[in-house]
Amino acid sequence: MNSSPIGVFDSGLGGLTAVKRLAQLLPHEEIVYLGDTGRVPYGSRSRETIIKYAREDARFLLSHSIKAMIVACNTVSSSALDVIAPEIAVPVFGVVEPPSARAAALTKNGKIGVIGTAATVRSGAYAAAIARIDAKLTVTSAACPLFVPLVENGRVSADDIAVTTIARDYLQPVIDSGADTVILGCTHYPLLAGAIALVLGEGVTLVDSGAVTAEFVAERLRSADLLTDRAKPGRRRYFVTDSAEDFAAQASRFLEADISGTVEQITLG
Ligand code: DGL
Repeated sequence: MNSSPIGVFDSGLGGLTAVKRLAQLLPHEEIVYLGDTGRVPYGSRSRETIIKYAREDARFLLSHSIKAMIVACNTVSSSALDVIAPEIAVPVFGVVEPPSARAAALTKNGKIGVIGTAATVRSGAYAAAIARIDAKLTVTSAACPLFVPLVENGRVSADDIAVTTIARDYLQPVIDSGADTVILGCTHYPLLAGAIALVLGEGVTLVDSGAVTAEFVAERLRSADLLTDRAKPGRRRYFVTDSAEDFAAQASRFLEADISGTVEQITLG
């Protein structure tokens, strides 16, 4: 039993996809979220810069005496986790392995698509994780660099012609591959799930990397007896490196709850 908070970080808003699922599964747990909104996006940056930012994010969460950390950013999970995880004294979970295992279990034709930022696709982390599970599975990856700015600007509707035009262009290689299961390998992408599903067409299953990782972490913490015995709902605190008001407005819409009193702007580094 352990009543310390669970720490979650992302470069911005996207990691809330993991928080939302975690809060549904573990309502009594305290959660500390860090969104590095002042420096988003990470996905177009060099590996050295991503490692530097990730170290600062992790250090901030550790200062809140967390019992476990979710790196709810695919870019960091795929490009920097191997470097930062050994430096962290609590269990650390990235968002690559759990969705890879889920996709491998779900695919019927053995063809998996992976979409993510340029850094995530460049890292090859998903293809490697899937090959470790089953070397016979084929993986087709596509970088979708404009998806994050679209989400950060609230352009997520499947009726938005800009969104569907860009999605058609990016997703064509995945469509051509015949993949029946596609990993949303970026925590922002579930917000575009409607448009992505429309473009990919019927019969394609989407795997939400943040939500699947939250399910995996909940199970791990439960089996390690690391959950709280608190009877009341756990406190939620959100820290950002740019405007707290802007984040609160966007996050409240996304989480379908008013979080404005719980967001604080901080400085990292
Ligand atoms: N959170 C990042 C990810 O999941 C997307 C945003 C960014 O590029 O920083 O890859």
